[in-house]
Amino acid sequence: MQLTVVGTGYVGLVTGACFAEMGNEVTCVDIDERKIENLKRGILPIYEPGLETIVSGNVSAKRLQFSTSLQDALAASDVYFIAVGTPPNTDGSADLRYVLDVARDIGRYLSHYAIIVDKSTVPVGTAERVREAIAAELQARGVDIPFDVVSNPEFLKEGDAVADFMRPDRVIVGCDSDTARDRMRDLYATFMRNHERLLFMSVRAAEMTKYAANAMLATKISFINEIANLCERLDVDVESVRRGIGSDSRIGYSFIYPGCGYGGSCFPKDVKAIIRMADDCGFEPVVLKAVEARNEQQKQLLFGHIVREYGNDLKGRRFALWGLAFKPGTDDMREASSIVLLNALIAAGARVTAYDPVATQAAHAELPESWFKSGALVLANDQYQALEGADALILVTEWKPFRHPDFERMGRLLKEPRIFDGRNQYDPQRLGEAGFRYTGIGRSNIRQPE
Ligand code: UDX
Repeated sequence: MQLTVVGTGYVGLVTGACFAEMGNEVTCVDIDERKIENLKRGILPIYEPGLETIVSGNVSAKRLQFSTSLQDALAASDVYFIAVGTPPNTDGSADLRYVLDVARDIGRYLSHYAIIVDKSTVPVGTAERVREAIAAELQARGVDIPFDVVSNPEFLKEGDAVADFMRPDRVIVGCDSDTARDRMRDLYATFMRNHERLLFMSVRAAEMTKYAANAMLATKISFINEIANLCERLDVDVESVRRGIGSDSRIGYSFIYPGCGYGGSCFPKDVKAIIRMADDCGFEPVVLKAVEARNEQQKQLLFGHIVREYGNDLKGRRFALWGLAFKPGTDDMREASSIVLLNALIAAGARVTAYDPVATQAAHAELPESWFKSGALVLANDQYQALEGADALILVTEWKPFRHPDFERMGRLLKEPRIFDGRNQYDPQRLGEAGFRYTGIGRSNIRQPE
């Protein structure tokens, strides 16, 4: 099939590259000329394992091309994916400006029957607005071209995006026409070993499914974080509790890892947006508001532990921080817990030496330049270098090289053998035996050497 994907962010680029990999002819369109120029030269705007290989392979095979002209791409395609950003407005609602701009452009240039697919995460009812925007443009042109609008939300995880796309748990398609349904089934048939996993439903139900999925996962995280905070006060190790409840197949082990809060481009934004949707229809979303509130507090937790130990004034202290990205496997720092912690530490007068295996450029883009200039924040080239002379190590993102480090070496490098573990990666008992003092999430009351 001939496909056009508008927007070359995480979702758009992965969608375009993976559909090309499956033999479709794909044009990825973006208004950002530099991004498109770079993509043509094989330079990707994001770090995503496996993506570069698929992109370059399909560009060479001439199945994947990049363009800034939607008009050119529109001439030939059967299906148009809208995969542009939906950043949050100040009130938490999703900003649909870019989605509707693309819809209007499609209406301006459409010349034959086509399927327009919303892949961006958009509030319930957006497909209707996309349909109206296209119809208005067609009407202004005085033409009558049939088209269908489909909702096909994306569930890929950053860091596993290619694998998630190629082997999806399920594909959700919301559509209300048989033609669109058949075409979407053909398109996804190559990805699905089990056709029951291709789920058709109404357009609005598909839009809601995406929010409900992310809100459910965020709820699991905020729930276990709340239990962890309670465990800490009751002198219980939450890690035992996590294993205990995870073994119940109704609960499961995934997404119940306690930590210093969830971040990223999806959970924080989508929980806000679903709360906003509820508010808009006069419904009080008590659970979702609590999920969000718990997460905000959770991001402050590590700083709270540090203040409890060193007091409010951190002048003269220097901390080593491992992990800036919002999770391992990505260079993305959007809504990362590290940002909240760095703000608090630096405002209290501390200096920080941070190390992240990939998020170095992102750090310069996301964090105030003044921190680097003043030396309040220094980026180390190596995880051990970051420790030299630091008062303590704070683990924020559980990258693999951080999971089983050389504790003996760490003990020699740190000023004091002290670890604040924001992702419960270490065994407090073992660390205690190695002479470290340790604070984790929901386990810091475990007896340790003074
Ligand atoms: C998420 C969803 O998983 C994906 O289906 C959706 O399409 C987009 O949002 P992503 O944002 O890439 O994907 O990250 P994910 O791996 O889900 O992690 C989100 C955050 O939750 C991270 O900050 C992570 O550290 C945190 N997390 C995750 C926990 O704190 N505990 C857990 O048990 C799991």
